[in-house]
Amino acid sequence: MTYKTTMEGLFVAETKETVLNAPHETDNLDPRTDAPAQTSAAEPVTISPVQLGPIAVPTPVVLSPMAGVTNWPFRVICEEYGPDGLYVAEMITARALVARNPKALRLCHFAPSEKIRSLQLYGVNPAIVEQAARIVVDENMADHVDLNFGCPVPKVTRRGGGSALPWKTDLFREIIQRVVRVCGEANIPVTAKIRVGIDHEHETFLEAGHIAQEEGCAAVTLHARTTAEYYGGHSDWSRIGELVEALNIPVFGNGDIWGADDALEMVRETGCAGVAIGRGCQGRPWLFADIRHAFAGEETRVDPTLGDVCRVIMRHAQLLTEFYDGDERMAVHDLRKHIAWYLKGFPVGGSTRKAFMECESLADVEREITHLDPAMRFPERVKDKPRGRVRFAKKVHLPYGWLDSRTTTHEERETLFGDDPMDAEY
Ligand SMILES: Cc1cc2nc3c(=O)[nH]c(=O)nc-3n(C[C@H](O)[C@H](O)[C@H](O)COP(=O)(O)O)c2cc1C
Repeated sequence: MTYKTTMEGLFVAETKETVLNAPHETDNLDPRTDAPAQTSAAEPVTISPVQLGPIAVPTPVVLSPMAGVTNWPFRVICEEYGPDGLYVAEMITARALVARNPKALRLCHFAPSEKIRSLQLYGVNPAIVEQAARIVVDENMADHVDLNFGCPVPKVTRRGGGSALPWKTDLFREIIQRVVRVCGEANIPVTAKIRVGIDHEHETFLEAGHIAQEEGCAAVTLHARTTAEYYGGHSDWSRIGELVEALNIPVFGNGDIWGADDALEMVRETGCAGVAIGRGCQGRPWLFADIRHAFAGEETRVDPTLGDVCRVIMRHAQLLTEFYDGDERMAVHDLRKHIAWYLKGFPVGGSTRKAFMECESLADVEREITHLDPAMRFPERVKDKPRGRVRFAKKVHLPYGWLDSRTTTHEERETLFGDDPMDAEY
């Protein structure tokens, strides 16, 4: 620990950290456009239900956890389109759950209609993550627990969390071991969500996959990017194929599925047991219906008009109001980002978008909707195209000396565990 003097002349603790200047690894190919096709598009894809412990996921499509997005109102809407997938809640910081932080507890709520209550935990300190798992089990909070080892956000990785963590194999193993043991008492399956590694010089996914399998994880999800790649470029699906080859447990492939055909293509190319969808369903929850149809070998796709989209917006607003215990203002503020995604590509004009961003109540949202043309077709140019964040990491922040060894030293553990963030937002 060093100290620096602030402008006000105060001494503040400054934790030394390792910072990788991320090379712009733009050379990973887009498997759908740049790389030569591995297989014929006509080749049928065989998809079977995935079994996670006692839980069957009939259509192996996962709503990938997204902080600030996948709370129960959004999950419910997604699940209405694809009634037999797996819809994971946004990550909950173990320490916040243990401290019974009200915001964290709200994120643990599920709607009665949700068939599989799926929670994701994040933490660095195995003892705290275990305590959080214990709460989940003792209070019957979930049917499935996913562990977050994929977050690339500097606030998280500089504390050794998220995608930085699998580098330290002892820590990674211990967290999984403890959570699997606690969840095992209630027959709750545990899965792990990982990235390819920190960067291509420090890849972790194969080892992490093996450890997860050895320690009893029911499945692994691989977001086929490194921390350094953040959300930039294209995920490299060939890495998903490598992991599928290496493991016996199901692998869910994740990264850059924007339409049902991408989902089919990922399964075809990698042999993954299922797919996980993040940004592709932002403002397009019907993607789960499209993928369900595609996996069933059907051509049907949802082609909503603006009027259909507005009905989804209104329903989303109402569910969010319930989520926020009747607080319409909070609901509508939460809804703003979703509205931007729902309206993406529709030629509705800047002033309409601005008016939506200024809404403070359900009535405001309803009023703005009446100004839109319900017959407008869904814009072709954004259909099944990338959406959401697309940046490379500027730098990868890690605890000081993190890359020096694959296991944690006593000092590293002391530093890390004193500093597990309460609220690790994406
Ligand atoms: C806004 C946002 C929030 C996210 N929050 C989480 C999270 O809480 N836990 C997690 O494991 N991954 C999180 N992710 C990563 C996604 O689950 C997913 O792995 C990533 O977006 C790649 O998939 P995609 O290409 O389908 O978007 C988040 C991604 C975004 C864009």
